[in-house]
Amino acid sequence: MKLPRPQPTKRLAAQVTAAVVGVGALSVGLATQATSDAPVLYPDAERHAPSALPDRVILTPTATPATSQSVSWRTSSEVSTAQAQIAPMAPGPNFEATATTTMAPAVDAVQADLGFPVKFHTVTFGDLAPDTEYLYRVGDGVNWSAWYEFETASDKADPFSFIYYGDAQNYVHEHVSRVFRRAFSDRPQADLIVHAGDLVDVADRDNEWGEWFDAAGWINGGVNSIAVPGNHEYRSGALSPYWDKQFEFPKNGPTALDAAHPETAYFTDYQGVRFIGLNSNFSSNQEMIQAQADFLDQALEENPGQWSVVTFHHPVYAMTGTRNNQLVRDLWNPIFEKHGVDLVLQGHDHTYGRGNMKNASSGVSGVHNGTVYVVSVSGQKMYDLNQGENWSGNGAELEKTDEGTQLYQLIDVDGDKIRYEARRADGTFHDGVTITKKADGTKTVRTVDESGTPLVPEPTEPPTTEPTTPPTPAVKVPGRIGTVKVSGSRAAARRTVRWTAPRTTGGAPVRAYRIVVKRGSKVLVNRTVRGNQRSLAVARAKLRTGRHVVTVTAQNTAGWSPATRVAFQVRQR
Ligand SMILES: [Fe+2]
Repeated sequence: MKLPRPQPTKRLAAQVTAAVVGVGALSVGLATQATSDAPVLYPDAERHAPSALPDRVILTPTATPATSQSVSWRTSSEVSTAQAQIAPMAPGPNFEATATTTMAPAVDAVQADLGFPVKFHTVTFGDLAPDTEYLYRVGDGVNWSAWYEFETASDKADPFSFIYYGDAQNYVHEHVSRVFRRAFSDRPQADLIVHAGDLVDVADRDNEWGEWFDAAGWINGGVNSIAVPGNHEYRSGALSPYWDKQFEFPKNGPTALDAAHPETAYFTDYQGVRFIGLNSNFSSNQEMIQAQADFLDQALEENPGQWSVVTFHHPVYAMTGTRNNQLVRDLWNPIFEKHGVDLVLQGHDHTYGRGNMKNASSGVSGVHNGTVYVVSVSGQKMYDLNQGENWSGNGAELEKTDEGTQLYQLIDVDGDKIRYEARRADGTFHDGVTITKKADGTKTVRTVDESGTPLVPEPTEPPTTEPTTPPTPAVKVPGRIGTVKVSGSRAAARRTVRWTAPRTTGGAPVRAYRIVVKRGSKVLVNRTVRGNQRSLAVARAKLRTGRHVVTVTAQNTAGWSPATRVAFQVRQR
């Protein structure tokens, strides 16, 4: 739909008049030229006009992201056959033949403030295989989007990464788009993007939503987004009419919010992490905060995974001015601590702050065992830091701050460890922690540098107090026996074999000697005696006539020594 180009604004007209007056009568021709060539602000109504071609395509997670996937998009209001097609990932273009089509439910048009009606459509693909790549496109059967690709979640606690942003809100086209690009180029493998509210400045302005979608471009079509509403997603107390139409979040939140605040509190489980989104826009409505406290408590109690991440807009501990979100702090904070929530990701204060409750501190700066609370900002609007009074005055401590800086956060989940990192819009490192969790649920949170190395070195194992036995030197077999003699006359009734100890014992005492007497190959005597014995008497009756050989060897724990042999003669009696 093309709309008429608007007339120059009053400000432009005034500038033109000033130009004419300034150059005087001789320059009337030039002034006229300047008037016709002056740039005119391209109208939002054309820039964001809808058509039959889908735009604002975005993936949002279901409650079961291993087997299902939601996608939403926008068209002009004439589209009445909205549909989506899906096919398994393939290297070539022939996959289209295998694509299946799902029709989108009929929807009512929403009147945009730019003067046109629009429609938001949603399809949820089901019966998908876990940890599997698919291609999909959306359209009306004739006018289609590109084929986008996505991957379903694993049904196990496999490693993955996600991105978290604080408020985008202002000048999203000019200033936030670079943050979205930088973050995604730093974590192109990210499976999720968390937006902690105030995505736009004015809840029902179509051009602002248009800028927000354009800033992420095709990224939103391939990566699941989790978003919660900030105060700027409300106008005159009403949630943006776009919210639950352009996003399809799980409908598993507290029923108290269903009617006026749909899809603003929910949870989804992604590869071992339970992500919980909350709606903190009830500074004076305890009933709504309490309803979400009960929901939060139950969702954490029943968390099937090892990790939990909670996101909402108004921070538990405010960073700036005299802000104080007491209901959130009073009713939600005890539940975070009770269940050991790992990350609380917030916005609203247009600064950066990261800290924890004081009672979780180890006593060493940069090391604690509690929940990590973060406030961040991705957009252009900046507030000044205060001294962290709202933290210190409420039992918490700030570990890291920043102001006047746009930031994005990268979080990597891997087994028993989460690595969290905040980077500035220019890509430089700003802040980092690692959370290491044991099987019993206890954890250690350490502030780390860019390389992931803890700022406070991890303690080394304390020296053992148990007595240690000196290492036993290696034992060798005994050395060869020095002397072997056979005494007694050749015809004596008894001959005696005598020997001396081996030259070396091999490091262990000799515990036995073996004496073998042979006549030729015939073994006549084979005796083993104790290690303290040095002689053995052999009766003549055991021997034969002629030449005999006696062999003596010594044994310790390592084995037998080389043999020492001596020959002797025996005569007939
Ligand atoms: Fe806000």
